[in-house]
Amino acid sequence: MGNNMFRRMPVEQATGQLYGGRHRLRVAFRTRDLIVLGLGVMIGAGIFKIAGVQAATTAGPAVILSFVIAGLVCLLAALFYAELASVVPVAGSAYSYSYVAFGELWAWVVGWALILEMLLAASVVARAWSVFAAQALSDFGVPVPSWLADLIGQPKGFDLFALGILLLLVSMLATGSRLGLRTLWFMVLAKVIVIGLVICVGLTFFDPGNLTPFVPEARPAAEGSGQTVLDAVLGAVTDSTPQVFGIWGVLAAAPAIAFAYIGFDLIATAAEETENAPRNIPRGIIISLVLTVVLYLGVAVTMVGMISYDKLDPSGPVLAVAFDAAGASVMGKVIDLGAVLGLTTVILVLLIALTRVVFSMSRDGLLPRGLAETHRYGVPFRAAWVSGGAAIVMSQTIDVLTLEQMVVIGTLFAFLFVPAGVLALRRDRPDLHRPFRVPAAPLTAALAIGAVAWLMLNLKVQTWTYFLVWMALGVLIYLVYGRRKSQLRRLLTEEQAVPARRPAAAPTGSAVRGPGAGGPPPGGAPYPGDRYGSGPQPTETYSPGGPYDRAARPADPFGAPPPPRPYLSQPYSSRPTDTGPQQRPRQGPPPHDPYAADPYRRQSGGYPTPEHPPAQGLYPRDYPREDDQQDPPYRDRNPW
Ligand code: ALA
Repeated sequence: MGNNMFRRMPVEQATGQLYGGRHRLRVAFRTRDLIVLGLGVMIGAGIFKIAGVQAATTAGPAVILSFVIAGLVCLLAALFYAELASVVPVAGSAYSYSYVAFGELWAWVVGWALILEMLLAASVVARAWSVFAAQALSDFGVPVPSWLADLIGQPKGFDLFALGILLLLVSMLATGSRLGLRTLWFMVLAKVIVIGLVICVGLTFFDPGNLTPFVPEARPAAEGSGQTVLDAVLGAVTDSTPQVFGIWGVLAAAPAIAFAYIGFDLIATAAEETENAPRNIPRGIIISLVLTVVLYLGVAVTMVGMISYDKLDPSGPVLAVAFDAAGASVMGKVIDLGAVLGLTTVILVLLIALTRVVFSMSRDGLLPRGLAETHRYGVPFRAAWVSGGAAIVMSQTIDVLTLEQMVVIGTLFAFLFVPAGVLALRRDRPDLHRPFRVPAAPLTAALAIGAVAWLMLNLKVQTWTYFLVWMALGVLIYLVYGRRKSQLRRLLTEEQAVPARRPAAAPTGSAVRGPGAGGPPPGGAPYPGDRYGSGPQPTETYSPGGPYDRAARPADPFGAPPPPRPYLSQPYSSRPTDTGPQQRPRQGPPPHDPYAADPYRRQSGGYPTPEHPPAQGLYPRDYPREDDQQDPPYRDRNPW
């Protein structure tokens, strides 16, 4: 088990209940903060630029349908994120879900895809930010010295603005997310006001004639624009050539438009910093995504209704140019300003989420453990500096603006695992308390996986090639580093060593401890309610040097060492079932072990539902955790 690359993390361990003491991040977010996070990360380059580009080059006015398709697929995926976030509310999002549902290798693969998504998205959006910021300076007539003009607003190569914005945001993050949160509220509000203005002002220029033909006739794609995987497959089978517009154009534009919705999945990475996360994360994800879908549809209808799609210029800031063309050039300035604010929040939240995923992966030992260090404000500052630094290097050295589909493929890849993870966990852990449940799960999961796979097939062959190279690199890193350094591996290896230290039989006079209700029934029958199955008796028995003796148990690799305390303390010693030294050790043959065939379930503890109180795990948490005093709201309201 220790060497198994598919070792799964028990849910109670992922959430810190099994071993306790997994250092958690400071609780900072409420539902409304999550909605702001969601709007902050979703409304960005996707709506200010990519929507117009897709209307002009691929879908025409029917880009509205592409928004609907991409929005529905994302909403479907969001439901599954919501369920998993309600069951496993920890920092790693799809990475952590895959760890508990499918095992370590898959978790690493998903985490690696998420890193691609966020690292590249932060770099892409920083470059776009620079273009809009330079445009805004020019709009407002701010004089820019000629030496500086060549260093800002550049689509590739060294760019001072992209460097500056990334450096600023990374340092903010590394010093405390509350500072980021206040700033975020203000900027998201400004961005939503700008989007509202775009819709209201744009509708005054609305001309239904611009919507015809709604689905322009299909025509051959321009040379060198790259073919999608679906084009390649169809071309091989039917000799057809890649086309744009027409119904295939609408479908091909949908994954590019999905870029605009990217971000709702990142709300889940804030779970560990969220008050009452099992309830608030699902709400945050769904409410922010629905709001975004509505706003986007408003902007898409306005944009294609204001100006004919063939007059849109895909090479510039499309939305602003559309207003210029319609004769409302002042709106162009408002949009440039809104884009500067809007893209700032996108970068900020992407960096927050990237930091949290890197933090989770390093906490689990799959990346260097030092990255999981938090400073006294509970901020993973090393993860912030390292991941932010990587985004800076990437933005300055690679032509990232041509790689936006790579962001989409990384995200969609992670989406595939989430519905599958819901099904896997429902099968393996039906006992878990699920504050949010996706209706008609097997059907909706199949629909979600099929829809996401379809969008992925509509991505370019070149995107797939780069993605496969990235993933191969990831698997190599895992095999060389993560597999050996995994904390779960260490834990399982140490656990296997524990029975060797256990006494063969508990000495008379030991105190029976544990969650079983009542002592052993006469005749050695199983403990009623014994959540580990009535396994070998010494695991239920305290004795000096035994498994419940703190001195004899392996160090908790996920947490701080427990402070010295009298061993027999709350809650176990106060239980009526804990009758102390006079309790007899169990007699008779070993009772039936219902979990013998499935060690994962035994290991993952009990039935954390309101009826069945929290799993205490193999090592009951009888000492206060490092962060007990720091986050009472989360702990107090935690349904577990
Ligand atoms: N959804 C984000 C944007 O459109 C990534 O910029």
